[in-house]
Amino acid sequence: MPQDVKIAPSILSADFARLGEEVRAVDQAGADYIHIDVMDGHFVPNLTFGTPVIKAIRSYTDKPFDVHLMIAPAAPYLAEFADAGADYITVHAEADVHLHRNLQVIKGLGKRAGVSLNPSTPASAVESVLDDVDMILVMSVNPGFGGQSFIQSQLSKIKKIKQMIGDRSIELEVDGGIKVANIAAAAKAGADVFVTGSAIFSGDDYQATIAALRNAIK
Ligand code: DX5
Ligand code: ZN
Repeated sequence: MPQDVKIAPSILSADFARLGEEVRAVDQAGADYIHIDVMDGHFVPNLTFGTPVIKAIRSYTDKPFDVHLMIAPAAPYLAEFADAGADYITVHAEADVHLHRNLQVIKGLGKRAGVSLNPSTPASAVESVLDDVDMILVMSVNPGFGGQSFIQSQLSKIKKIKQMIGDRSIELEVDGGIKVANIAAAAKAGADVFVTGSAIFSGDDYQATIAALRNAIK
């Protein structure tokens, strides 16, 4: 069981009309990171927001901004996201040809570098960049929308990647369909950062949900 569990609420399911307040609310409710889903309507079939929105909400919390880029290409925009206030910048392995270069650029910008894999992408896609990443994000739904069901086959991928990580200091994040009922299975497989969008924002008591998620792993 992972020792240092992190909960990263995804603001994709927040009330966009009150986004700053929503960020403050999940911060005060015990979030470890704020997960920010950037979508381009090309890499994924949905559009969300970009750097102006990230800049606008930056002052509402001191918690790390975990920026998940579902955009292709990502390379031309990395510096802009760093400048907007991202702490983690995660790119998809499938989005750009030069993943290694993207990770180097992110680190060069002084940010934590993450790589994400779609459900159909094998664990081996990260094997050659294990010494170049701070975070690996396993998508447990097809990226694009909140509120989808967890894809069970991703548990064995998380296990494989956990083994590949070995004693390296890499966070293993799982994103999509995480709820109180299934977070323990993802933790058992080796994940230590848990993105949760609809499970948190669909209820009224963010603090109670975050506490229940943590409790479910104990
Ligand atoms: C999906 C996003 C997720 C999403 C998770 O493309 O990457 O972060 O918001 O939402 P839930 O927890 O509702 O599956
Ligand atoms: Zn995400």
